Amino acid sequence: MLVLGLESSCDDCSAAVVEETSAGPKIISLVRESQDELHAPYGGVVPELAAREHLIKLRQVIETALHQAGIKTTDLSIIAVTKGPGLIGCLLTTFSAGKAMAWHSDIAFAPIHHAMGHFNSARFDAPNLPFPALVLLVSGGHTHLYLASNWIDMQLLMKTRDDAAGEAFDKTARLLDLGYPGGQAVDERAQHATNSALAFRSPKFKDGLPSWSFSGLKTAVKQRIENTPGLSGDDRNESEINALCKRLNETITTWLLEPIPKLATAYGAKSLVVSGGVACNSELRSKAKSLSENLGIVVAIPKPYLCTDNGAMVASAGAMLPRSTHSSWMENASADFKL
Ligand code: KG4
Ligand code: ZN
Repeated sequence: MLVLGLESSCDDCSAAVVEETSAGPKIISLVRESQDELHAPYGGVVPELAAREHLIKLRQVIETALHQAGIKTTDLSIIAVTKGPGLIGCLLTTFSAGKAMAWHSDIAFAPIHHAMGHFNSARFDAPNLPFPALVLLVSGGHTHLYLASNWIDMQLLMKTRDDAAGEAFDKTARLLDLGYPGGQAVDERAQHATNSALAFRSPKFKDGLPSWSFSGLKTAVKQRIENTPGLSGDDRNESEINALCKRLNETITTWLLEPIPKLATAYGAKSLVVSGGVACNSELRSKAKSLSENLGIVVAIPKPYLCTDNGAMVASAGAMLPRSTHSSWMENASADFKL
């Protein structure tokens, strides 16, 4: 069974052809047009520019994915497209294109929640993941922890109260002028650190409910940069900057993994999945692996190129959706488009 997956919820325009085999999903082609250069001057994604760029690149991206896979549209069994959440103008481009292709060639259409897509990127390397699984999704828009009973049933356990972890990375990189996108730059700097920076205080929640918060950390980083000689201006000191990046890496990864042991026990989790762009982070990857070993559970972290937004993860999720939840072209498009 061949599945076309389309993803354009933010600044990556991606299409992939995935073959679902008895041994799990296999990527036949994966095309991704990054918009990093377009948004770099602004230090963040400009939604209107992103949507227009998707419109320009979309057709070529889909055609290249089909061409590289050596197939025609009519060879596809399913067209899976991210339905949200994401930037609405960006989502609409591939959602409409995918729906039109499905309509034209009478192919099943699978609208996919973005979080389910990120989760299903773990299926490429861990098709036999034991359930229940704790699923930590960390990206520029998400910091969510789910309990999954299979590849398509996810129950939200906790999430950030304000900003996503990726935003703290991106904001820090912007303040330190490290380039765009920020997470990778901070991560690389952290690996070159030779000294250590002062710790950041963890947020305290009056209601005591488990959750995360990263807006206070963003403010604390801003104040630290403004008030510490060597972190900005003409007397920039590269080793102080590296030390701050290392401290940020340590802080965010510690906070993200803190609730895992208690929840793994409470829900009898047999595995931990970490995905989303921030799952590219070297420290998060190694800490999640050793934590899982200590807990005696399986860990699944997709390869970095599959952690960031891509069409293959959407196709992988599309292959798992039961046929009854696929739409035919006759149904109302808006019914599928729940964000
Ligand atoms: O999943 P993704 O590609 O897009 C969204 O759905 O948001 O995630 C993008 C986020 C950005 O905030 C980026 O800075 C972050 O992932 N990121 C990283 C690393 N690589 C990408 N954060 C920390 N360390 C990294 N190595
Ligand atoms: Zn994402």
